[in-house]
Amino acid sequence: MRKPIIAGNWKMFKTAGQAVFLVQDLEPLLDGVKDVEVIVCPPAIALKSVSTVLEQDKPLVALGAQNMHWEEEGAYTGEISPTMLLDLGVKYVIIGHSERRQMFCETDETVNKKVKSALAHGLIPIMCCGETLEQRESDQVANVIGGQVAKGLAGLTDEDVAGMVIAYEPIWAIGTGRTATPEQANDTCGLVRETVRQSFGDAADAVRVLYGGSVKPDNVDSLMATSDIDGALVGGACLDPESFARIIRFNA
Ligand code: PGA
Repeated sequence: MRKPIIAGNWKMFKTAGQAVFLVQDLEPLLDGVKDVEVIVCPPAIALKSVSTVLEQDKPLVALGAQNMHWEEEGAYTGEISPTMLLDLGVKYVIIGHSERRQMFCETDETVNKKVKSALAHGLIPIMCCGETLEQRESDQVANVIGGQVAKGLAGLTDEDVAGMVIAYEPIWAIGTGRTATPEQANDTCGLVRETVRQSFGDAADAVRVLYGGSVKPDNVDSLMATSDIDGALVGGACLDPESFARIIRFNA
């Protein structure tokens, strides 16, 4: 059985102080929650303050970063390294989000370097993939997703892949209010898993595949009821403690 994950991607929202309030508002809403991994991914500048709150109060919630560089240190102005993340108590790191691919020139090759580096440092990568609307409408989903997954995971071992997380996020569903149907989302998460199976065999049964793209309290239950979706990567709805808590309590 794969343990579900509900991860909140805060993107570029919340100052360090506001981030603490958000987590403090969320925590009491999670009493009694179990059998799910909850991850919050605040902006880098808020990792320290959120880490302090989480360490003291809520081992249920783990800390994730939204990006990292693959090197440990060096002349990379503006970048943050895996060792810096570890030092702040970070456990997960989102890699290759479509916003980073589209706006910050990330490629399958840089994604692969980052995934390898994260694993080498003991961080759990949440590697993102997703197609544009144009690609979906021209029947390229299998090509695009298969290619992103295969290239992102190139050179890893079965064990590496079994322990990581892959998030399928159709670009047309991110921040648009237009969610993939449970069937579309599940089919493509299944495709991700089959791509993993081709190169890494049984690791495909262990890797957790999340769906992301306008996940909300009113659609999470039907998404989570499918066979191949192991959790959600939530953007907009994770900034409101009540709605994020409801998503965490999917099928409640
Ligand atoms: P959204 O974002 O839930 O606001 O669509 C999801 C994401 O980009 O991870």
